[in-house]
Amino acid sequence: MEVVILPGSRQIGRMAADAVEALVRRKPDAVLGLATGSSPLPIYDELALRHEDRGLDFGRAHGFALDEYVGLPAGHPQSYREVIRKEFTDRVNIAPENVHSPDGTAADLPAACQYYEDAIKERGGIDLQILGVGTDGHIGFNEPGSSFASRTRIKTLIEQTRRDNARFFSSLADVPHHVITQGLGTIMDARHVVLVATGAQKAQAVRDFVEGPVAAICAASILQFHPHATILLDEAAASSLRLADYYRHAYDNKPDWQGL
Ligand code: GLP
Repeated sequence: MEVVILPGSRQIGRMAADAVEALVRRKPDAVLGLATGSSPLPIYDELALRHEDRGLDFGRAHGFALDEYVGLPAGHPQSYREVIRKEFTDRVNIAPENVHSPDGTAADLPAACQYYEDAIKERGGIDLQILGVGTDGHIGFNEPGSSFASRTRIKTLIEQTRRDNARFFSSLADVPHHVITQGLGTIMDARHVVLVATGAQKAQAVRDFVEGPVAAICAASILQFHPHATILLDEAAASSLRLADYYRHAYDNKPDWQGL
């Protein structure tokens, strides 16, 4: 796990965008794992800018959403399919048919989950998975207690997550209770994971998953087992880390050839 502490979300967006840009230039048909929430927005802004300014080309790339609410009708502004379309894929030249998300409207949800797993596999797996983290340490919608071996499946949201996400809806009552999320096993299969977290409200979750024990009570802690996980934090999100000075020192002295 590499922890990089940066001054703010702008710098985080740029560094994550550097990793995506390097990947897409090296492998034009790269498969990107796309997260929602507010944390990844600066990454999408930066990628849209690079597409506009320097012609960064997503023409052959694919995108797979990390998760989706169950039961929101197609086209609902808060469905993650719509959010990803609006915040990222409509702003670059990724082909709409190459952007995939779990079908939260399916009559047969387990079949839709299996279909999604198969679709990721058919594309050769995810090259770079962008992640945020919930205040309870969830990644995707893998709430505390999620199996470390889990694949894409239905989950029930914890009340805290529904409350955290209520700001995107007109009221708490409108936030769905059920979701489909890539499993922790699915996320662990991504070749590179880039998790971004900003703000003091994330400090405890960051401390728990970076430096705490690997335990299902904090789903993101499984990333300690990932061979290539990059954790990009602002000062506030990093404020409870015991080894913050060490992470700074390691990054400041990192050999250029290592890249991200
Ligand atoms: C939701 C998403 C997660 C995201 C989390 C944090 O629960 N399913 O993928 O990481 O929110 O969101 P934010 O970045 O807005 O704090």
